[in-house]
Amino acid sequence: MTASLRTPAAFYAPLAIGAPEPLRGQPVRLERMIHFVPPHIEKIRAKVPELVTQVDVVLGNLEDAIPADAKEAARSGFIEMARSVDFGETGLWTRINSLDSPWALDDIVEIVSAAGDRLDVIMLPKVEGPWDIHYLDQLLAQLEAKHGIERPILVHAILETAQGVKNVEAIAAASPRMHGMSLGPADLAASRGMKTTRVGGGHPAYGVLADDTDSDARAFSQQDLWHYTVGRMVDACASYGLKPFYGPFGDFADAAACEAQFRNAFLQGCLGAWSLHPSQIDIAKRIFSPDPDEVAFAKKILDAMPDGSGAVMLDGKMQDDATWKQAKVIVDLARLVSRKDPDLAETYGL
Ligand code: GLV
Ligand code: MG
Repeated sequence: MTASLRTPAAFYAPLAIGAPEPLRGQPVRLERMIHFVPPHIEKIRAKVPELVTQVDVVLGNLEDAIPADAKEAARSGFIEMARSVDFGETGLWTRINSLDSPWALDDIVEIVSAAGDRLDVIMLPKVEGPWDIHYLDQLLAQLEAKHGIERPILVHAILETAQGVKNVEAIAAASPRMHGMSLGPADLAASRGMKTTRVGGGHPAYGVLADDTDSDARAFSQQDLWHYTVGRMVDACASYGLKPFYGPFGDFADAAACEAQFRNAFLQGCLGAWSLHPSQIDIAKRIFSPDPDEVAFAKKILDAMPDGSGAVMLDGKMQDDATWKQAKVIVDLARLVSRKDPDLAETYGL
């Protein structure tokens, strides 16, 4: 253990006297889409009670896309929304401004003071290293203690700087308060000097060209620009018991490309993505809920191997302890989805 980490006992101790015990595992929650709302707009706030029935997580955005002169209105709009709406099983998150901005301190102090008992997760943008998490961790513990908050507020980091990606494992390991991470392709592209102006998705020029043979025209296949980062994020999250997410997809008109990006992330291990437009809610729901045929086959594997060991053949395919674990991931997710979604519950038949 290096000196930069707390000892195991201290790691799980509250960071302020009277703050709640840190969690030792993730709460079981469905988070297929984190739906962004701009809380300074009253008309949008008025629709939140209806939105709560359609999405898994409502996130009040205070950071990028909120104009500088609306930062305070967004913060107070979020507090009003948090206090007045019944969120039930739907998660309530906020994305605060980055720690180097003039707004972050008031975002944290005011929101936790006024609505800390309602808030599930704070999304922290532009996380560069574990020091950012330690700062927020300590401050949250002090505020939780001061306001008698009984449930720890979790922290979700946006992975959107080159330095953050370099430090992804240390960020994941920084605190038991860590919920997970989202890939932020827009800021990350800028930070790395990538040559794209898109928010997520591929680029028509990024791909591989087939060999030059005499016979055919050379085929060009576009590749996923985010594959490497999603892979690193998923490994860091899975190693520390956190949840990985793909972030935003900016071209609202291109539903097919959004779906492809979300599906790649899902297949690589992500549990959800952001929805920035109502049309993306259904895309996320479809992609991040397991496919009914896969669920049926996974169920068959679990039924055929009641104690999860040995080897059996099913439909000509070999199953063993490892495929049993894969099947369990899918069936567990389907059970979770069934609790929220009666239509899918019926298709899964669990
Ligand atoms: C999200 O915040 C992004 O920068 O892509
Ligand atoms: Mg960003």
